Amino acid sequence: EASAEERRFTELIEADSRVEPRDWMPAAYRKTLIRQMSQHAHSEIIGMQPESNWITRAPSLKRKAILMAKVQDEAGHGLYLYSATQTLGITRDEMMDQLIAGKARYSSIFNYPTPTWADMGAIGWLVDGAAICNQVPLCRASYAPYGRAMVRICKEESFHQRQGFEILLELMHGTDAQKRMAQDAVDRWYWPSLMMFGPPDDDSPNSAQSMAWKIKRFSNDELRQRFVSMLVPQAEVLGVTLPDPDLRWNEERGEYDLGEIDWTEFHEVLAGRGPCNALRLQRRRDAHEEGRWVREAAAAYAKRVAERETE
Ligand code: ACO
Repeated sequence: EASAEERRFTELIEADSRVEPRDWMPAAYRKTLIRQMSQHAHSEIIGMQPESNWITRAPSLKRKAILMAKVQDEAGHGLYLYSATQTLGITRDEMMDQLIAGKARYSSIFNYPTPTWADMGAIGWLVDGAAICNQVPLCRASYAPYGRAMVRICKEESFHQRQGFEILLELMHGTDAQKRMAQDAVDRWYWPSLMMFGPPDDDSPNSAQSMAWKIKRFSNDELRQRFVSMLVPQAEVLGVTLPDPDLRWNEERGEYDLGEIDWTEFHEVLAGRGPCNALRLQRRRDAHEEGRWVREAAAAYAKRVAERETE
């Protein structure tokens, strides 16, 4: 027999209304939101690293300014999301400790290296493109603070995606070496960007419940398909080839058939054995240590102000 609170929650979800922090919610709903939202926040923060690698080497002042702004946006997204997650009763320190200890997940995509400038284009076009496909439906997530954070984040993501597309477009209008560099980056980022959507539906333990709770609105495979449909015409404009020889339009299904995704690679990256996992975590730990004095100084100052006010 469901309690009155539980019934109210179920009605709220069924009516497509929103759950606010002070509303009653099932413990499992709270837990899955903390899981997904903290992973999402960590992804934004770790996601600053592959691109910050190129800030000092951007090919022009304009490109440098744009890249700096983009990486700062990612820091902002991480902070919004940590704040939204805190409304569920976990502290920022707890989340940060989980990340630093290597116990928290963050998106697989940020464990790949960025050896060339064209990677900045491919990340914007493919990684931020995938992020938009995944995140636009999250603007309607049943947990209101998450949905509200997503609205602003998605606006910035679409700017990020266009700047990446434009980097590739410029390279594809350049010398043969620049064209090869752009194609090589697309070759390296295409498959990992498809893996961002998560495991196939029949191997996605959290999907059914998250969809019933209207946190997720579409399944991992549905969003992956939508993403590829968006990429194909854009790849034509760019003049790049998507590195999947089996990619073709299926008239009957009204969708693209995709080649086989290397799920072994995905699971290796999730297990911490991707090309850059150790480096990303070490950098985050070092940054956390180097920032310790700032946190301590801010806390000491806040304490002094509070004491002065009570005098
Ligand atoms: N990288 C790392 N872990 C992943 C990935 C991925 N690409 N995809 C799935 N996983 C993990 C899930 O977190 C889950 O792990 P857990 O149970 O230990 O927490 C496990 O694999 C099984 O996956 P699902 O059951 O499909 O998990 P879920 O329903 O949470 O769906 C998804 C995964 C689609 C990533 C979802 O969590 C989501 O939409 N998150 C919000 C978006 C996000 O985090 N984006 C980050 C990258 S974009 C950016 O930051 C620019």
